[in-house]
Formats: sequence, C-alpha cells, structure tokens
Amino acid sequence: MTAPRNFDGADGGNFEAAFGVPPAVLAAAPGRVNLIGEHTDYTGGWVLPAAISLELRVALRYRDDLEVHGVSRETGAAEALLRAGAAGDWLDYPRGVALELAAAGRIPARGFDLQVESDLPSGAGLSSSAALAVATGLALAAAAGGRFRASERPELARICQRAESGFVGVPCGMLDPYAIACGQPGRATLLRCHDLRASTIVVPPGIGIAVLDTGVRRDLRDGRFEARTRECAEALETARAALGRPLDRLEQVNAGDLPALEAALDPVPFRRVRHVVSENERVRRFADALAADDRGALGREMYASHASLRDDYDASWPEADFLVERARGVAGVIGARMTGAGWGGCCLALYEDGTVPEPLSALVAAFAAEFGREPRVWRTQAGPGARLVSPR
Ligand code: GLA
Repeated sequence: MTAPRNFDGADGGNFEAAFGVPPAVLAAAPGRVNLIGEHTDYTGGWVLPAAISLELRVALRYRDDLEVHGVSRETGAAEALLRAGAAGDWLDYPRGVALELAAAGRIPARGFDLQVESDLPSGAGLSSSAALAVATGLALAAAAGGRFRASERPELARICQRAESGFVGVPCGMLDPYAIACGQPGRATLLRCHDLRASTIVVPPGIGIAVLDTGVRRDLRDGRFEARTRECAEALETARAALGRPLDRLEQVNAGDLPALEAALDPVPFRRVRHVVSENERVRRFADALAADDRGALGREMYASHASLRDDYDASWPEADFLVERARGVAGVIGARMTGAGWGGCCLALYEDGTVPEPLSALVAAFAAEFGREPRVWRTQAGPGARLVSPR
C-alpha cells in the first residue's frame, strides 16, 4: 500500500523553490473510485462514488499579471496566458477553472503561480484531472479571500465540470468533481447527476476497498470518450421519436422501453443505451445492497456492471477483463469491476477485510503470471473531499 503523505503543516517549500516566494494557499484533493454507475453521469443518470485516500496537493499564489505558471512534480512545467486558448497540456485544467470562477464573479481574472504534486496516477481512472481542478478551485477562491462552504461544494463541482467539458474539451459529467468536492469519510455518495440529488451511504465496516492498477494508460482527450457521449446524444434523439414521449435525458428511459428501442436503433447505439439503462438500475440495487450490507448482491451488481461495460459499451480492456474474471474465484473477494472511463486504468475490488489467506495477493499473482508484471494495489477507504490546508 502507498500511504498518502500528510501535507498538513507543509511549508510550501517546493513552491518557494520554483517561484522564489512562499505560496499564499495550500489545498489538497483526493482521487475517487466509482463503486458503480459507469458512463451514466453525462446522460443525467446515477453514480455511486467515494473519495479515496490518495490525493493531489497544490500550492498557489496570484501574480500581478495575466500569466499562469505551473510546475508539477509528475508532469513538468507549463505556462500560458490566462485567457489563451486550451494548449492540450495539464495547465488547461487550472486555467479552465480560473476562467469559470472569474466568470462566476468568485475571483479576479488574474494570473497565478501553481505548484502540484500528486500520489494519484494519471490516466488510471482515479480522476487525477478532476482532483487538480477541484484543488485549484479551492485554492484560487481562498487566495482571493473567499471560501466554498460545505453547502457550496456542489457549485464548486459544477464549476470544475464546466471547465473540463468546456475549456479543456472533455465532455465529462458530474461524477468526478462531485465525488472529490463533496466526499465524506466512511461514506459513498449516491448521486443523480442531472439535478445533483445526493445522499450518502456508510460503507459497512469489514468491507475493504482495493484499487488495482492494470498499468494500461489512456488519455480522455483521445476521442473515445467523446465518441461515447455523441453516441448517447444521438440515441436520445432516436429514442424520443421511437417512444413518442418527451425525453430530456437517457436517465428517463427504463428497461421496459428497450424492446421498442431495439427495433428503432442500429445494434451499436442500442447496446450503448442498454448499458446506460441497465447500469442506472444496477446503481440503485447496489445502493440498497450497500445499505443492507448484502455482500452477495454487491458482488452480483459489480460483475454485471463490468460485463455490460465490456459487452455493450466496449469500454473494458483485456487486463481488466482478466482481473475481474479471476476475482470471481478468489475467496474473500466480494466483487470486482473496472472503474472510471475504461480503455485502461484501474479495477476496483471490494473484499472481506481480514480474510486469510489475504485475497488480493492471489489476484496479483494470477495477473503477474499472465502479463509478466504486477499490478499496483492500493487498499483505500472512503475518505473526505477536498480541503484547504492553509490558510484553514
Ligand atoms: C470519466 C469522466 C466521468 C465519467 C466516467 C465514466 O471519469 O470524467 O465524467 O463519465 O469517465 O463513468
């Protein structure tokens, strides 16, 4: 396990080394793991994520000009004018958030210096980019003398989602920024994305959350994610005509509508819709199972979610399929599935904490025998959302 480093009490020394002055603000944001509800958020549907204990930290200070300078321990240095167009580098996320915050009247439109360090692998489906956006948003507001109170965290999440889908150009939904801005320790969040109706569910003691990194990487800007959002938007148009009722989003389509949609849609868009509709139903069944601590039902929904992402959404990848298939046979594993957008990144496994022999090592060994390398494994917990470290 990689323990998150404690940033509290840090003096921003890395920022000072890079920029010659101390930072005004330090903030930290966790990654997230989506327990279930994949590729449902941008169609207004249901998700069930938790913030995790791996985190990303930023140090920030406003400048007197309109330049944005960033240094990242992981991704190097970048700079741009605040209002220049997206450059395709990591600094697009902080700039996009700053522009959204300024447009909302929350901060002045000024340049800033930013230093970043992260325990979150990027491109692994743990939302390192949303963590960067949310941490930067908190820091920019605080450095301008503002705060996002607990009740305003959903607004911060919306600002970050707009930055990523607008300025950065990845048409993502609310899953990641909401989980990261609003996460609560020990709890998963059941969220309906179109209106942000949310409730939290305690993760029962004794259920371990593990993230297994298959080591395969992808970039959400590579076009596959956008293609799925387009397929869903086009399928909604056809569904409107085929079902003959007003529909604002695929979340309003239910299982009873599927036979009529199968007749109206080509096979590929139909499979996309079938995934979205069935996944929304799985999220709600999974939420009930989590609240009731029904571990058999949790596993069934996770395996079904993975199969649907593999067969209907074409979003899984061979290493993930292998891990999930193997997980079924390991005593002490409650369930497993890919997590995040897919096409690379991590699998999630829920397991019975304290099982002997330790269940995850069997999975690691099977993966290593098949692929000749070990997956990284993080044993994590549902953790708190983003926070200001200094000034508190
Ligand atoms: C990425 C996106 C999210 C969500 C997931 C898939 O993480 O950023 O908005 O669509 O993929 O569930």
